[in-house]
Amino acid sequence: PDRYAVIGNPIAHSQSPRIHTAFARATDQDLLYERMLGNLDDFAGDVARFFASGGCGLNVTLPFKTAAWALADERTARAEIAGAVNTLIRLGGNRLRGDNTDGIGLVRDLADRYGFQFQGARVLLVGAGGAARGVLVPLLETGLDRLVIANRTPEKAAELALLGAEHGSVRACDFNRLASERFDLIINATPAGLNQQVPPIPSTCLAPDGWTYDMLYADEPTSFCRWGQQQGAARSLDGLGMLVEQAAESFWLWRGIRPDTAGVYAVLRGARA
Ligand code: ATR
Repeated sequence: PDRYAVIGNPIAHSQSPRIHTAFARATDQDLLYERMLGNLDDFAGDVARFFASGGCGLNVTLPFKTAAWALADERTARAEIAGAVNTLIRLGGNRLRGDNTDGIGLVRDLADRYGFQFQGARVLLVGAGGAARGVLVPLLETGLDRLVIANRTPEKAAELALLGAEHGSVRACDFNRLASERFDLIINATPAGLNQQVPPIPSTCLAPDGWTYDMLYADEPTSFCRWGQQQGAARSLDGLGMLVEQAAESFWLWRGIRPDTAGVYAVLRGARA
């Protein structure tokens, strides 16, 4: 079988092998997908050895996405701006193409699975680190009305807004100046939920019928999901669907087949219930 893997550190809890194995079964593809614990001081060596031994493609997760961006021989436009690569594709002549499927994964989860109407929507993106940067351009390409970025360190939000400016309507705004604004969708791209925190978003920000989305996911509802529920969000979603959709996009890049994601999503969701 053709060999694929996900490389990260830590990696033990990655769901990617399960997701890709299910995709392969459903689409009748003969492939093997494994977990790889990457060496923190020899990521390039790990990647080189994997492909030299016949590997066909790699997913890259924390903390190696920037390193993967740097070592790719060529990059897609969306990976270029993301500054991060989560999918490596083997080309001829030992060359590697780097792509980033996180942003399109987020958009597909919201728009295709849940029917969120991006057209004309006012969207707040909270956070300005790697996770936010990774989804910036795909969000701006949805036809939304405006994207506002808020971050604990305002300078980083301003930098990100500048980076996105040629792709759509985007600006930065401090948390304490958000109170007069209304959003149809608030996306959390900070890891604040990991320590039971929620970024300081004024509770007036969510429009009636607005949605909230946490790019994190966990067995229990995340603290940001609970915040969304408390605000009366029409939907308060976590990032499990994004995980499945970014995997489907990688699968398509490697195999040329777009797997149906509903079954895998239901299984993962059920396993966590
Ligand atoms: P990632 O790659 O996951 O995005 P990162 O690059 O460290 O991680 O960025 C984390 C983002 O979450 C940053 O925007 C960070 O704010 P700062 O730029 O001010 O550091 C934000 N963040 C982290 N913990 C937070 C918290 N408890 N409250 C609000 N924002 C937080």
